[in-house]
Amino acid sequence: MDLEQRLEELLGVEKFEPPEELRAEANWSDPGIYEEAAADPEAWWLAQAKELLDWDVEPSQSLDDSNPPFYKWFADGRLNASAQCLDRHVEAGNGDRVAFHWRGEEGEERDLTYADLHRDVQRFANALKDLGVEKGDVVGIYLPMIPEVVVAMLACARIGAPHNVVFGGFSAEAVAERMDFSEAKALITVDGARRKGKTAPIKPQVDEHMANHHALEKIVVVRHTGIECPMSEGRDVFYDEAMAAADPECPAEPMEAEHPLYILYTSGSTAKPKGILHTTGGYMTGVTATHRYVFDLKPDSDVYWCAADVGWVTGHSYIVYGPLSNGATSVMWEGAPDYPHKGIWWEVVERYKATILYAAPTAIRTFIKWGADIPAEHDLSSLRLLGSVGEPINPKAWLWYREVIGGGRCPIVDTWWQTETGGIMISPLPGLTATKPGSATVPFPGVEASVVDERDGEPIEEGQGLLVLERPWPSMLRGLYKEDDRFIETYFSRFGNERYLVGDAARRDSDGYFWVIGRIDDVVNVSGHRLSTAEVESAIVAHPDVAEAAVIGESDEDTGQAICAFVTLRGGKDESEELVEGIRGTVAERIGKFARPKRIVWADDLPKTRSGKIMRRLLRDIAEGRALGDVTTLRDPDVMKELESKIAEEQAQEG
Ligand code: WTA
Repeated sequence: MDLEQRLEELLGVEKFEPPEELRAEANWSDPGIYEEAAADPEAWWLAQAKELLDWDVEPSQSLDDSNPPFYKWFADGRLNASAQCLDRHVEAGNGDRVAFHWRGEEGEERDLTYADLHRDVQRFANALKDLGVEKGDVVGIYLPMIPEVVVAMLACARIGAPHNVVFGGFSAEAVAERMDFSEAKALITVDGARRKGKTAPIKPQVDEHMANHHALEKIVVVRHTGIECPMSEGRDVFYDEAMAAADPECPAEPMEAEHPLYILYTSGSTAKPKGILHTTGGYMTGVTATHRYVFDLKPDSDVYWCAADVGWVTGHSYIVYGPLSNGATSVMWEGAPDYPHKGIWWEVVERYKATILYAAPTAIRTFIKWGADIPAEHDLSSLRLLGSVGEPINPKAWLWYREVIGGGRCPIVDTWWQTETGGIMISPLPGLTATKPGSATVPFPGVEASVVDERDGEPIEEGQGLLVLERPWPSMLRGLYKEDDRFIETYFSRFGNERYLVGDAARRDSDGYFWVIGRIDDVVNVSGHRLSTAEVESAIVAHPDVAEAAVIGESDEDTGQAICAFVTLRGGKDESEELVEGIRGTVAERIGKFARPKRIVWADDLPKTRSGKIMRRLLRDIAEGRALGDVTTLRDPDVMKELESKIAEEQAQEG
């Protein structure tokens, strides 16, 4: 039977039971775990915290909810996140175990053992101290997928300096902004970055934007590509030189459980990104537990590969903290999925005999487009479990992933979570949960989620509504960096301080399974990258010829959603291809290439309410060819007619 037929047939299967073999050996196979956790979630999480982590001071308390929504977990405990990830494995005699099989774009290979990381992290922690970084100082990290990024993160954790990692795809300008917001004292970056055989200068761009940055005192530069790199005397230092000069030993300092571990900026409804703050004890408990049980991780035999970038939360929780805390052996891949060829992922799986692969639906859809013949050229029989994250996965892609990559034998864990949740919240447990293609299934033990009516917040047993989390969980964000009001306003103003508003719409089916639909706010998910429409709009209007812009996410076969911008030009400026490129360039400079609009629609005017608010809902309708919703509140209903004819014209041209 050919693949298409097989997939069609499988579309008729409602549920996939866990494979018997996996169930028999699974880390969790007793369904009683859900009830046990639900009976007393706080006691259950405290037990997890004690079982999974080595505390310097064991916590006696679980949740402290005396000041909602500012929750604390395990507050009287003490531990060091880098010691959880390194020292305890080295002390247990596992120093020789590979932590990362690193593979560079050009095929270079470096294996880093736990002992290697332990050594480098101690030295770099001392180097940071030598540069004047102290406990509580924020340190920026802007690095590609190279082992030094892990060393830098853990060195910060070791001395209690919260890191603020910025994804390498962001522009230097976006980095500078994030450094400013977080008042970073030091930044760790790189001379240049490689992408598909080309080298881009990074340090010179960073310099351009850091001149007026007052809090930033030091810049550490990793020599990665060897390209020419300007250094500013007294401020800049090379990583290798700082390492060589530093003391080799840096004992891990026990931190309070609520000591800030990191800040990670993510997009919200306004143009200003939100600094999500995570702390130590609860976060480490959450990521260690979910990584161990969702991926059924066996540290002695698994080779785990999370193909995300370390600059996003998925990388923080499931490349760095979760896997290292569990003593896993991981693959770390520097490059793009199509360089040097379209089969590189499968070559990597085969080369390292990866057993677990965690990837985004957008990657899977790309592989589908490239064809099943490409993975078929490689031996993927080592794989035993597949994960999905970042956006809804459509059933067809889910089945293709299962059949073509997983050989029909690997269960798929579709994991729903967010930067804010720190770790996986809704997901199957591979030895326990029957899966349905397209559903993230049920909340992790100790997590309580509901779908509620948007009008009155009443839970909906079966049907569609807003997704909420009903109680605090250990790895939850502790706030937005220095923006308490915005924290309350964003997540707790709608349904009160006890219920966390996720920002996604979801549906529950008759089995109680969750089907996450997508964002309800002005956040767009492009290839699993979270962007705010306001952020992109503010970048577009920075172009000198632009008067006004409205950005929406429209469905896209490849990237899930794509950015579509409606742009009004300043008087006298003409629409042109050149201007399209100019606007896209401005967005690349201000935010990063990944945020460039895919489509620009020229608009003489934008649909606005009488109070002047842009009605994006109507723009979404028009872009997706739907019948227009209510237009009676528009100041000038004719605006929509003109836009409709524009879009029709455009479509006619495309044929
Ligand atoms: C979406 C990424 C459906 C969702 C870990 C969420 C998902 C946002 C899934 C968070 C999934 C993430 N199914 N949608 N399995 N996972 N999302 O903060 O809209 O970059 O709110 O965290 O991605 O994106 P973030």
